[in-house]
Amino acid sequence: MNTIQTIKLSQVVSDFLKEEKKLFINGEFVSSTDGKTFHTLNPANNEVLADIHEASEKDIDRAVQAAKNAFENGPWSTMTPLERGDLIYKLALLIEEHKQYIAEIDSLDNGKPMSELLENDLPNAIGQFKYFSGWASKLVGQHIPVNGNFLNYTRHEPIGVVGQIIPWNFPFMMAAWKIAPALATGCTVVLKPAEQTPLSALYLAKLIQEAGFPKGVINIVNGHGENTGSALVKHPSVDKIAFTGSTEVGKIIMKEAANTMKRVTLELGGKSPNIVLDDANVEKAANGVFAGIMYNQGEVCSAGSRAYVHSSIYDEFMERLVSLTKDVKLGSGLQSGNTMGSLVSQEQKDQVMNYIELGKAEGAKLICGGKALDQGCFVEPTIFADVKDDMRISKEEIFGPVLVVSKVESEQEALERANNSAYGLGAGIWTQNITRAHNMANRLKSGSVWINCYNATDPASPFGGYKNSGFGREMGSYALENYTEVKSIWVSLD
Ligand code: NAI
Ligand code: MG
Repeated sequence: MNTIQTIKLSQVVSDFLKEEKKLFINGEFVSSTDGKTFHTLNPANNEVLADIHEASEKDIDRAVQAAKNAFENGPWSTMTPLERGDLIYKLALLIEEHKQYIAEIDSLDNGKPMSELLENDLPNAIGQFKYFSGWASKLVGQHIPVNGNFLNYTRHEPIGVVGQIIPWNFPFMMAAWKIAPALATGCTVVLKPAEQTPLSALYLAKLIQEAGFPKGVINIVNGHGENTGSALVKHPSVDKIAFTGSTEVGKIIMKEAANTMKRVTLELGGKSPNIVLDDANVEKAANGVFAGIMYNQGEVCSAGSRAYVHSSIYDEFMERLVSLTKDVKLGSGLQSGNTMGSLVSQEQKDQVMNYIELGKAEGAKLICGGKALDQGCFVEPTIFADVKDDMRISKEEIFGPVLVVSKVESEQEALERANNSAYGLGAGIWTQNITRAHNMANRLKSGSVWINCYNATDPASPFGGYKNSGFGREMGSYALENYTEVKSIWVSLD
């Protein structure tokens, strides 16, 4: 019996796809000045979904001027914190109302399963706006007891115009992670989505209009990184760049930002370890390690892509792990019942397949998977064993459904090998012993540590990297620091 049912696209989404995909600048949808457009594809079948207006340097200047004007002179600049919070909350409610449509758009554009969008991406995105709407009225400075007869206090002021550049792996959710805290602090935004997944941010622009944000507070400009993204990073009136994407581009942005002394926060790649100790609940650990790498087709910056498994439980663990791959239903994200969708693009599929070939050539043992489907950008869940730390598949970010597993003999060995990485975004520990778990958590060099779980996130809890995984923390109260300057004010009381 075929249990796979094709989901019919909502009428709203079919209509949206037919609309012209312009730039959203100063509260209006406008054409790109040079008339340039680019295609966005459905990676499940590589067909064109829509033509997108590409923002030129001139368009970026328009968007930045609009954001600057909104920051300095517009109604946003004089709104009370509670009013600002209300608007952010209103946007959350509108997203909630439209979540089915947004999920369909992201599934089409990115390839990921609807179930993941409806259970994770959309609730998480809505949560960001709800959570940060509350912070708008709770940004407080300090009153500091200084020497001498002074009143000294600090103000946490919005940085100004923020350029935000996001990747394609969680298109809508990444937009929410970036926009929500920036708005809470009172900044204004120019957001550049990834060229592979430009659609859902344009749908968000419609909701921003409907929510009634003042003109220019949020501008959305699509385009390629080297043109549109780079113009945003160079623009002298952009006060800060918040970037999520590859470490390679993060470095380019950091160097370029130095010229105008922009503030920068970077959320970059990873090669996160998942450690399974001898006293772990093996069933739970296998499920957790599996989901930790295979979720979202492995296209997750914090994916647990390296597993270190104690020799005493290794065989049972591997048996369970491999059997989980057999349950995966690989296919269009828009068909219910499919548990793994397509990678985002042919380019990404090629990258992942090249790493799989490389792994074989390096002498790692291919345990299961390893193949791509002929049509679309689908790659099977793949597991390599007998992986050595100096192999490239163990050191480099693959960004696909590929796990490398190594057998370890001790906790110390696991810890050393886990930390032996250029990256430091996430890490997992599987053990029943809380003392071991906490000692190890303290010694792992990564921005998040998950004990007997993996990839848990919440709008209230910070997320970000050590080492080559970047710096700055998204979410939680920590994210507010990304968008504020601290001013110290002195008043003589003599
Ligand atoms: P990328 O880093 O090139 O793209 C991310 C964003 O940066 C996109 O919006 C892109 O347009 C923009 N961008 C690219 N070059 C730019 C430049 N010079 N100036 C300003 N903006 C620029 O990532 P890409 O090429 O899509 O993926 C390559 C690899 O990067 C992936 O295979 C994966 O390993 C990693 N990656 C990591 C992500 C993460 O969440 N940490 C997300 C996406 C990719
Ligand atoms: Mg790129």
